[in-house]
Amino acid sequence: MKVFVLGGDGFCGWPCAVNLAHSGHDVVIVDNLSRRKIDIDLGVESLTPIATIQERLRAWEQVDGRAMRFVHLDIAREYERLLELLRSERPEAIVHFAEQRAAPYSMKTSATKRYTVDNNVNGTHNLLAAIVESGVDVHIVHLGTMGVYGYGSHRGATIPEGYLTVEVPQPDGSRFTEQILHPTNPGSVYHMTKTLDQLLFFYYNKNDSIRITDLHQGIVWGTNTSLTEKDPRLTNRFDYDGDYGTVLNRFLMQAAIGYPLTVHGTGGQTRAFIHIRDSVRCVQLALEHPPTQGEKVKIFNQMTESHRVADLAEKVAALTGARVDRLPNPRNEAIENDLIVDNRCFLELGLQPTTLDDGLLTEVVDVARRWADRCDRSKIPCRSAWTSRQAEAIRTGA
Ligand SMILES: NC(=O)c1ccc[n+]([C@@H]2O[C@H](COP(=O)([O-])OP(=O)(O)OC[C@H]3O[C@@H](n4cnc5c(N)ncnc54)[C@H](O)[C@@H]3O)[C@@H](O)[C@H]2O)c1
Repeated sequence: MKVFVLGGDGFCGWPCAVNLAHSGHDVVIVDNLSRRKIDIDLGVESLTPIATIQERLRAWEQVDGRAMRFVHLDIAREYERLLELLRSERPEAIVHFAEQRAAPYSMKTSATKRYTVDNNVNGTHNLLAAIVESGVDVHIVHLGTMGVYGYGSHRGATIPEGYLTVEVPQPDGSRFTEQILHPTNPGSVYHMTKTLDQLLFFYYNKNDSIRITDLHQGIVWGTNTSLTEKDPRLTNRFDYDGDYGTVLNRFLMQAAIGYPLTVHGTGGQTRAFIHIRDSVRCVQLALEHPPTQGEKVKIFNQMTESHRVADLAEKVAALTGARVDRLPNPRNEAIENDLIVDNRCFLELGLQPTTLDDGLLTEVVDVARRWADRCDRSKIPCRSAWTSRQAEAIRTGA
């Protein structure tokens, strides 16, 4: 099948693209390379040295024999080119990773807030409008986030896969039940854009019958897959800085370089996780099981386990001997939360979860140790604060 991978040069997109190509699909990566540009703006680099997209593609063809193509295109700003690309290539599926994905970066300044909204909401809307205008019958698989449900208290309730069944009381005392999109509770401007994406999908699915699968993904950890390990030029990126690094990978690299683990606040925050190999597998499963014509947006919770941040830090400390530091929390969020998640859809499709076992944790520590001399320690602390109150706490260390 011909598949576009929007954002296929990124952390989740690159291993997904090579996996789809390896599985025999005709893959076209569409990316504006903005993530690489943001690294330059922030003065930071992936801990692992990553090849240019051109080198990656050359290496991939040499290693696997199945070429992928690359189109340098900004889906948020180049609508006419996107439309033309859809008309000329007529893909059967589009995997959409192409968004600004860091919550701290989205909260950094008013410029990064505006960029995140412009980029993510316009990008998704351009894609939907271009599909309608081109008349191409295509299945969109979008990478959303578990964060759309919010990390407040769910009072012990299990978070369903996208839809909540509610009972609506009527004036005459009767009640009817209805399935609605689960209420959203974004915790950052980035998460807010993902909740807006959900509404765009709801509308275009209802109005234009576009077939859509929205994957509410947990925090991805790990770095390489068996395919990106095949050649150093295929190596995946590893973000460790305070804006783009995600919690578990950060702990593992901090342990590797002897930097105290940066727990924000009490560490009582509970989050959902998934290993990069499972993320790649889930996208493939979603592509192989598209919604039927007229079916409402399919929503899957793409996560395999939930953990409290403090427990993760303790686990990494026990494994590596690292010290744990408690720092002021830059985020405006609940001190602690519960998170019980239904993820039956992928399990029923055959996903065999990779859990947080010591072997895989050690593998990430080994990768981080190998590249420890590339780390700029000054980039590790999180300095993007959610509000002026948090900024003050970070400044004074209170
Ligand atoms: N990494 C995670 O832990 C995680 C967790 C949950 C959800 N997700 C979602 O998965 C998707 C991919 O995340 P990632 O970690 O690979 O991020 P990433 O920043 O590494 O990759 C995103 C890619 O999209 C490209 N891009 C951004 N805007 C674009 C535009 N307007 N036009 C074309 N290309 C554009 C970037 O250049 C980059 O290569 C995101 O939508 C993110 O919200 C990621």
